[in-house]
Amino acid sequence: TTLFRSRCYGRRNIGPMIFKEYMRSQKEMLDARLAELVRTDVPQFSQLYEAMNYSLNAGGKRIRPILFLAVLEALGKDSARYVDLACALECVHSYSLIHDDLPAMDDDDYRRGKPTNHKVYGEGVAILAGDGLLTYAFELMAAQPDAEPATVLQCIRIFAHAAGPAGMVGGQAFDLAAEGNLDIGLSGLRLLHKSKTGIIFSALVEMAALLGGADDRARAALGVYAESMGLAFQITDDILDAVGDEALMGKPVGSDEKNNKATYVTLLSLDEAKEQAAAATQKALAALDGFDDKARFLRDLAVYLSERVE
Ligand code: IPE
Ligand code: IPE
Ligand code: MG
Ligand code: MG
Ligand code: MG
Repeated sequence: TTLFRSRCYGRRNIGPMIFKEYMRSQKEMLDARLAELVRTDVPQFSQLYEAMNYSLNAGGKRIRPILFLAVLEALGKDSARYVDLACALECVHSYSLIHDDLPAMDDDDYRRGKPTNHKVYGEGVAILAGDGLLTYAFELMAAQPDAEPATVLQCIRIFAHAAGPAGMVGGQAFDLAAEGNLDIGLSGLRLLHKSKTGIIFSALVEMAALLGGADDRARAALGVYAESMGLAFQITDDILDAVGDEALMGKPVGSDEKNNKATYVTLLSLDEAKEQAAAATQKALAALDGFDDKARFLRDLAVYLSERVE
């Protein structure tokens, strides 16, 4: 891997230590802000908020908000202004995981190294914790300071579309409907991955491009980057579900097999799935060719995600 990295990305790749430090400090900053934002003074609501925070603070990788902020940095913007918007993205992501784990969906007992939300709080509270995070995210987005109202409105439209029935929710419904149906074909699988996972990556990169004032060329390039990253991300998720290390991932291995899901590993071989993930990563990196050194964290994120084990 080391050889491959230095050969392919060598000059452009910053030191792995600097990147590791960047990820750590971004995650720490986001964790702190999320803890500040998601709280209540109403004692009667405290269990709901506890359940929301339980999943939110369970230690996710924070890929989506970090990616969103990194695109703004690549465009030469001060990303600190958009931290609350980044937090909103993580709220929507956490909601999607709480609901994804419910007995009526993937029925999983572990997430982010801890028992799943419904295992601790029961299904009713878990459903509401998800609802709460989803709805609060849009309140946060609408309250984004320091941005043109028209731009904020456009961001909300982009993200609502991606997270909603024409995007992630649609993808999750298709995922459920396709359980036990391994012949949805590669085109069906592509639609599934794009809608349940990829479209969120595309939307947050588009939002950052908009807020960052990217020109048409940069926007198009970032669009290719996002789409390729989203695809590589979900293929790797499928691979890890089959052959990953449960202790590192903090969620069960074999969940897809248990639920008879069609994945890149069932429709293709493990090696083919790995090749497709690597090809998508290369495509993401190539899309950044016209960007300068400010895009270094975007490049490193692509490499990091292609090598992830959690
Ligand atoms: C898992 O996402 C769900 C998918 C869309 C594949 P992540 O792998 O980003 O999960 P966390 O946030 O790090 O727990
Ligand atoms: C979930 O996909 C995608 C979401 C929109 C939450 P998975 O069901 O594969 O995610 P994991 O593997 O449980 O994290
Ligand atoms: Mg699922
Ligand atoms: Mg799942
Ligand atoms: Mg999975």
